[in-house]
Amino acid sequence: MESIKDKKILNSSTNVPKYVEHFPISGQLFKKAKKYLPAGVGSTSRAVWSGWEPYPLFIKEGIGSHIIDVDGNEFIDYLLGLGPMLLGHRPQMVTEAVTKQVQEAGTVFALGSELEMEAAKKVCDCIPGLDQIRFLNSGTEAITYALRLARTYTGRKKIIRFEGMYHGFSDGIYWNKHPSPNAIDQLGNCIPEPQGPGLPDGIKDTLLICQWNDLESLKKIIEKNHTDIAAIITEPVMCNTGCILPKSGYLEEMRKISEKYGILLIFDEVITGFRMGLTGAQGYYNIIPDLSVFAKGLGGGYPVAALGGKKDVMKLVDNGTVSIAGTYSGNGIALAAVSATMDYLRNENVYTEMNRKAAKLREDLNEILKKSKIAAYVTGIGAIFQVWFSDKPITNYREAVKYARGDIFHIWWEEMLYQGVLFHPHYFENLFVSTAHSDKDIEETLDRAEQAINIVEKRCDL
Ligand SMILES: Cc1ncc(COP(=O)(O)O)c(C=O)c1O
Repeated sequence: MESIKDKKILNSSTNVPKYVEHFPISGQLFKKAKKYLPAGVGSTSRAVWSGWEPYPLFIKEGIGSHIIDVDGNEFIDYLLGLGPMLLGHRPQMVTEAVTKQVQEAGTVFALGSELEMEAAKKVCDCIPGLDQIRFLNSGTEAITYALRLARTYTGRKKIIRFEGMYHGFSDGIYWNKHPSPNAIDQLGNCIPEPQGPGLPDGIKDTLLICQWNDLESLKKIIEKNHTDIAAIITEPVMCNTGCILPKSGYLEEMRKISEKYGILLIFDEVITGFRMGLTGAQGYYNIIPDLSVFAKGLGGGYPVAALGGKKDVMKLVDNGTVSIAGTYSGNGIALAAVSATMDYLRNENVYTEMNRKAAKLREDLNEILKKSKIAAYVTGIGAIFQVWFSDKPITNYREAVKYARGDIFHIWWEEMLYQGVLFHPHYFENLFVSTAHSDKDIEETLDRAEQAINIVEKRCDL
């Protein structure tokens, strides 16, 4: 039977006149923005080539689970700022805490505060792998420090990372996020490939690249190189190539083999942390990494990250061996946001309710897709998911590239946008549900998805 991957679709490009008709002011602002902002945007994921064709939307405001663009279109928001708006936009408790901090205390002191100690305690109390943490400003920063810490602790230089994952944009790790077909040799071994130009070539000697969810290849690499390997870094759920779950037992085995060879296990919980529950993915799967990084779920939408681990590793920071610094690290805004977010998330039922609604959306959307003529299904966990337009299961990056249709996804994104539902146009991103989404939002999204998929069928004519 012909696979969906081989089928020709009628027209995969955006219906530009319709888009311009819906979003005229965004278009005008985009033209102006290009003069002062490269590519007219503030970050690559918002650029035209990341899927926002013919131009990205410009947003006026967000409120709860909704977002309103400059043309006055209102969307149910599943983009959620690419994850951080776990409590929805402008969550009252966090807004009040931050406002109070700014008005009554201040922002940067270059000294400690009781609030910093309190916020750290609240985070450590939730996450099983954390005895101590340092607050930082972004996931990229926290990952950079995690790698440095792991190298110092083990006295080794190499890091294992997986194809299809993103651990921020620092030179040392921005490799093989979405590598080319050339980054794999004839025996199926992954070859380090920079994710873009400007990364020092020598870094390739510090990285070992592996296919995720493939225990045998991981074991082979570790057995051959273990005396040189400082750490394995992984997202516990692959959230940067759609949403791919770990195979049963995979993370457990990763933990066992890393322990056996004295390799540190770093969980990049920038997306999963506080989103998959109060204990993070590590609590969910009951696997305790040596180091963990948190960011997007941590501060209710304010810029903050944290790196932490057990005392045994963190003692290198404690005793001054490894410097973890930053003028804005642990600033008052970030700390007030973390503290209030933790208080909110520790309320009973917050996760039960969010997960109930997310499960309804995932399951019912899956049913809608199953009934359509186009092969598609939903994968995900808790309040993170993605739709694969594919007729094959997808367990790693290479399979995603081989089996899933990004062009059909893009048409679906466009039609959902016209229906008032927002998410990222690229099929390697995610849809997120927040604690602010209501049952009505979910019902409306499902109704609109049903209408959108009918139009997608017609536009693709498969
Ligand atoms: C899993 C993961 N790690 C790290 C990062 C980098 O975080 P930041 O954008 O805060 O630097 C991201 C960002 O999307 C991410 O998804």
